[in-house]
Parts: sequence; C-alpha cells; structure tokens
Amino acid sequence: MSEQTESETPFTPVGPANMLKPGESAIIEIEDDSIVLVHLHDGYYALENRCSHDDGPLGQGRLVGFEIDCPRHGAKFDVRDGAAKSLPAFRPVASFPVRYNEDTDEIEIQYKKPEPQAFEDPRGFNFNFT
Ligand code: FES
Repeated sequence: MSEQTESETPFTPVGPANMLKPGESAIIEIEDDSIVLVHLHDGYYALENRCSHDDGPLGQGRLVGFEIDCPRHGAKFDVRDGAAKSLPAFRPVASFPVRYNEDTDEIEIQYKKPEPQAFEDPRGFNFNFT
C-alpha cells in the first residue's frame, strides 16, 4: 500500500458554510482525532486539538485575533499555520487546509494524521536515555 501524497489526501466535509460566525471556534472529530475549526473574518482554519507543550485542549482556549491560547498553561498559537507564539510551547501544532465547497455549500478539511514529533529541547540540550 502506498502513502497518500498531499494532493491525494481527500477533503472531509465537516458542516455547512454558516456553521460558525466569525470569531467562533468548534471542536470536531475526523478519523477519531480531535480538530479545532476556527472561523475568522478572512476564512476558516483548522488545527489539531492538542497543545504541543503537554497535550492541552486548544479548542477550549480563548481566541484573540489570529491566536488561540491553551487553557492549561497559556501558550499561544497562530491559527493560520499552527506556529507556537509564546512559551511554554515552542513547537507548532499541526494545521490543515480548509476549503469551501460551492457545490455542497459545506466547509471541508484536508485532514492528514500528524506525524509524532521528536522531542527537541529549545535550549539545544538533547538527552539520550538509552
Ligand atoms: S499544555 Fe498547553 S501550554 Fe501547557
């Protein structure tokens, strides 16, 4: 079995185009994984619902502008690309392409299960525990 390339990854319909007002977010499930769907004035964005610091539920965080903060320890992430914007998180969270399907009037997410990230110490100390 071959791996799917980015362009072959299907888009999954998640709801009608008006499912969220600008400034709102929702937690949805795709393939048993939890995703945060955000509607901003310039469109929809999707991120994994798991903080890269310690697995906090990002979808329960506060949305301010283009940033969502983690309710556990306050790290902020850019919802447009998943970039970590403040400590204690320094690694991004996965983000997924979102599109509007005119034919069905639905929002669709190109979801691909994120690869697990190897631990990298931001100070440059990487320990081998073997
Ligand atoms: S789990 Fe998100 S900041 Fe710690």
